[in-house]
Amino acid sequence: MRNLVLGLQFGDEGKGKVTDFISQENSVLVRYNGGTNAGHTVVTKKGKFKFHLLPAGSLKASSIVLGNGMVIEPEALVNEISDVLAENPHLKIHISSAAHVVTRLHKYMDGAQEKMRGEMKIGTTSHGIGPTYEEKYSRNGIRIEDLGNRDTVLKKLSFIRELRSSELTESPFNNEELEKIADELHEKWQYFRSFVGRTEYFLFDAVSKNEHMVFEGGHGTMLDIDFGTYPYVTSSNTISGALHTGTGISLRKIDRIIGVVKAYTSRVGEGPFPTELHGKDADLLREAGGEYGTTTGRPRRVGWLDIPLVNYAAMLNDVDEIAITKLDVLGQFRNIRICTSYGKNVKEPVNALLGKEKAEPEYVEMDSWGKIGEGEIEQIVESGYDAVPEEMKNYISTVERLTGKPVKIVSIGQIRESTVVRK
Ligand code: GDP
Ligand code: IMO
Ligand code: MG
Repeated sequence: MRNLVLGLQFGDEGKGKVTDFISQENSVLVRYNGGTNAGHTVVTKKGKFKFHLLPAGSLKASSIVLGNGMVIEPEALVNEISDVLAENPHLKIHISSAAHVVTRLHKYMDGAQEKMRGEMKIGTTSHGIGPTYEEKYSRNGIRIEDLGNRDTVLKKLSFIRELRSSELTESPFNNEELEKIADELHEKWQYFRSFVGRTEYFLFDAVSKNEHMVFEGGHGTMLDIDFGTYPYVTSSNTISGALHTGTGISLRKIDRIIGVVKAYTSRVGEGPFPTELHGKDADLLREAGGEYGTTTGRPRRVGWLDIPLVNYAAMLNDVDEIAITKLDVLGQFRNIRICTSYGKNVKEPVNALLGKEKAEPEYVEMDSWGKIGEGEIEQIVESGYDAVPEEMKNYISTVERLTGKPVKIVSIGQIRESTVVRK
């Protein structure tokens, strides 16, 4: 079985938890886009694990692949690999030689661009993602394969500095500093060089051997560079098709596309958010859900579940099924709402999502299932879907009716085990 897990909102839907949950000890796990701007949390009985570059199931899988579509910061990579190997020493790691390298120059430029944007700022993670993709597409980028040659890296760094001089004014990157960066990158390379290769061959082989595979999308659909709320998006494609360009494996080889939907909505950074809550309700939901960025620690903006948004995302990704997360959090609200439409004047919801037309969200009110205690969660997991509270079942079947997609995975707690699968 080859699975694709991706987010149907603005990111942080709980993709990490779902990826980890469906991963097996013999799985091949794959990331294909983005970099350390992604933050995927997995909670097991042993503790909390945060993934930025490695797929979230790395704690138990047999092999992982970082595809060519990614932008990789070597220092973060080394740290994450050593953390994961401490937990899963037999893990085999494959890193695409064609993935691009995020350097300190790119991180600096990310910050500088945000400053220059002023009121038009995007609210990026400041991890250098945008500038690194810019370098890739202008064909001046440093690829993982370049790191083996320190002089090539230095030459490219000098060229990038010259080309981007207006973004690097007042920056600390004199010749001495560039030499230092080239040294650092080369040193990190020594640590992971044995993992680097043309990962497409390994992946084709895994597909032909029918290995259990999980591809994990970074970010959410509404952060897609083309289909998201541009310019308040990330710099990569996040929709399902990015899997092909980001790994070389055709989407036709994927058996199951799982769209992860948080039972409410959250967003970090700027940009339109039709069902956003403000004030006391927002504070309550943010606290109940621990809605603070995994990567930056920023408070996430929060709001009600937005069905027009989810339907747009489900359409773009051609999802087969939905995994719904954080129902335990939503249950802490007495009055729960779901947005079913943006009002009769909005014909194509994407226009309201882009902020081009005014969304006048229409809601249905749902009965709450209340707070569920830990003991109750365990009991539900043990007994299966039949034991789910009726009000929660009603919420889930409402989502199914409004999206036309089956909800197969139901997440009712942070820990890996707090998950119910519907047959
Ligand atoms: P991702 O970027 O989509 O992988 O999501 P993040 O990991 O950034 O954010 C989701 C957060 O919600 C993480 O802290 C998860 O541990 C947590 N989480 C996921 N599913 C559930 C759930 O069903 N209930 C609760 N309480 N927390 C959850
Ligand atoms: P995961 O994989 C939430 C947002 C940033 C910012 C915008 C652009 O954890 O769901 P960037 O640094 O990518 O140039 O920032 O995109 N963003 C995310 N928000 N979850 C993510 O990833 C995100 N990746 C990028 O907050 O608004
Ligand atoms: Mg996240």
